[in-house]
Amino acid sequence: MKLGLIGTGIIGEAFVRGLLTAGNFAGEIFVSKRSEERSTRLSADFDQVTVMNSNQEIVEQSDTIILAVLPEQTESVMRELSFTADQIILSIVSSITLKSLAEWGAPCEKIFRGIPLPPIENGIGPFPICPPSPELDSLLSSVGTVVSLENEDQFLSIAVGSAMMAMFYEMVATTAEYMETAGLPAAPAAQYATSMMHALADTAMNVDEKELHQLSQTCLTPGGLNEQVLFGLRDAGWYQTLKVEMKGIEDRLSKY
Ligand SMILES: NC(=O)c1ccc[n+]([C@@H]2O[C@H](COP(=O)([O-])OP(=O)(O)OC[C@H]3O[C@@H](n4cnc5c(N)ncnc54)[C@H](OP(=O)(O)O)[C@@H]3O)[C@@H](O)[C@H]2O)c1
Repeated sequence: MKLGLIGTGIIGEAFVRGLLTAGNFAGEIFVSKRSEERSTRLSADFDQVTVMNSNQEIVEQSDTIILAVLPEQTESVMRELSFTADQIILSIVSSITLKSLAEWGAPCEKIFRGIPLPPIENGIGPFPICPPSPELDSLLSSVGTVVSLENEDQFLSIAVGSAMMAMFYEMVATTAEYMETAGLPAAPAAQYATSMMHALADTAMNVDEKELHQLSQTCLTPGGLNEQVLFGLRDAGWYQTLKVEMKGIEDRLSKY
């Protein structure tokens, strides 16, 4: 397989690194010069990466093209390119619909949307794709857990979930920070917070969707410490606010 990456930015670089390390990708990867610092770094680190001077050269060299530019750049970038009917386009651009991609990517018909997250660099995390793609399944499974979605409404729901990353990290950091103010040195505070969250997430990975909703209850001793925090946050409207913010993301994404 020959892969092309148009938009060597934060997530594009993470994707390529994930494929070539955790994913053991054996083919060639042609990347756009922009961002130059990232593309130079990638080609220095991996023999399989070649930096191309133009986006059209990438398209001509590749059978699968990953689009990773910003939403507002996508139309002009795609309209300048000539794709062929037998190529595959995987767009990881957040808000551009399959309909627009089909118009700008014609005559290519095998067009997909995906949402990788930064941990893709380490070969972990969800990789939602819409519509389901048998052609890309083994490639994407090498760097994450493929979640195949039948339609863009489902894809939108997943995009809402993907907005929880910063909130999660802030919660981990706040946990560590508070333990520091309570007297614990920074290193063990960070070690405890990250290791605990990792263990909790790992445990949650092993339960089904019904049990997931019961997990918080399994941590509660009547009158105990976890109960105090959970009830305190719930009474302060914390979980309700989270849902309000998620609705805001859904409304924002629904405009596209
Ligand atoms: N970051 C994430 O965690 C994440 C996750 C999932 C999806 N996404 C989506 O992925 C896309 C990229 O996000 P990002 O965070 O990686 O942003 P980013 O770092 O700004 O990446 C965008 C890249 O596109 C390049 N670019 C702009 N115009 C170009 C052109 N005409 N030809 C070739 N390359 C061009 C930029 O180069 P210059 O620096 O030279 O302008 C930059 O390297 C966005 O649509 C975002 O919604 C991001």
